[in-house]
Amino acid sequence: MAPSFIPTSGWGQRLTYELIYLSFGFGRSGMFNVGFAPARQGILADRAFAVRPHQIELYAQMFDQVPWDADQWRRSDWLELGAGCGGGLLHLQTNHAPRSAMGVERSYVAARRARRLGIDVRQGDAARLAMESARFDVVFCLDALGYLPSAALTETFRVLKPGGILLCGESFRGTPEAAREHYHRRAGAAGFEFTGCRDVSAGVLRSLLERSSAASFAHGLPAFFRDRLKETLFLDGSDRLRLWQCGAMCFVITTFRRPD
Ligand SMILES: C[S@@+](CC[C@H](N)C(=O)[O-])C[C@H]1O[C@@H](n2cnc3c(N)ncnc32)[C@H](O)[C@@H]1O
Repeated sequence: MAPSFIPTSGWGQRLTYELIYLSFGFGRSGMFNVGFAPARQGILADRAFAVRPHQIELYAQMFDQVPWDADQWRRSDWLELGAGCGGGLLHLQTNHAPRSAMGVERSYVAARRARRLGIDVRQGDAARLAMESARFDVVFCLDALGYLPSAALTETFRVLKPGGILLCGESFRGTPEAAREHYHRRAGAAGFEFTGCRDVSAGVLRSLLERSSAASFAHGLPAFFRDRLKETLFLDGSDRLRLWQCGAMCFVITTFRRPD
């Protein structure tokens, strides 16, 4: 498989993300996840999300897992880990109006861009959260857990209120059952109780296919850049897209609870 632009760990990965966020505007709702298609009408109709409706829809699929009434939403405090430019938090605030919503993001460029849009994203490391203990009702991360060290889950446990919810949306190489086992083991090691797992692979694959056929800009690039970009963005002919097409990849939204 040709390598993706994004290294798996360390400073190389951090620098790559800074360059990605510097190079791409990502519109008002700055996003960098695999997406879910089709997007619901409310998202398509909102101009703030028009640039990347599928990426916002994946967040919406995640928030659908929270079974609260309007009053519980209004009284809740939320934290996102690996928040990127804050598009998910913007959607959360617009559609569910929680009491507070903030994010932590390692990229300086992304966090700054979010703050310019009025979204509270602080630059920092999810493994060393500056927030006080038992502060949040929900901590969530989308397409980011795979990058985070295990200390981030210990920190998440600390900043969640007893009974609080952890929501994770993540790609996995294997079946949804294997993904469920994997994330259950990871979060269980930090003390969380597993409460649910939803397989949203079909919508993610549809989003990747629509994006891949739309992205023709890579074709004119020199081979070195083209091959890496192809893998990074799951473009037509990439090995990563092929894995999705043959059912070797899945995307699950898992929910956990901090015991009382
Ligand atoms: C694939 S992007 C997803 C961004 C965003 N969740 C979205 O859906 O658009 C993964 C993000 O995790 C961030 N990240 C990686 N390691 C991190 C860490 N230790 N602490 C905070 N953020 C981190 C990266 O900078 C990147 O913005």
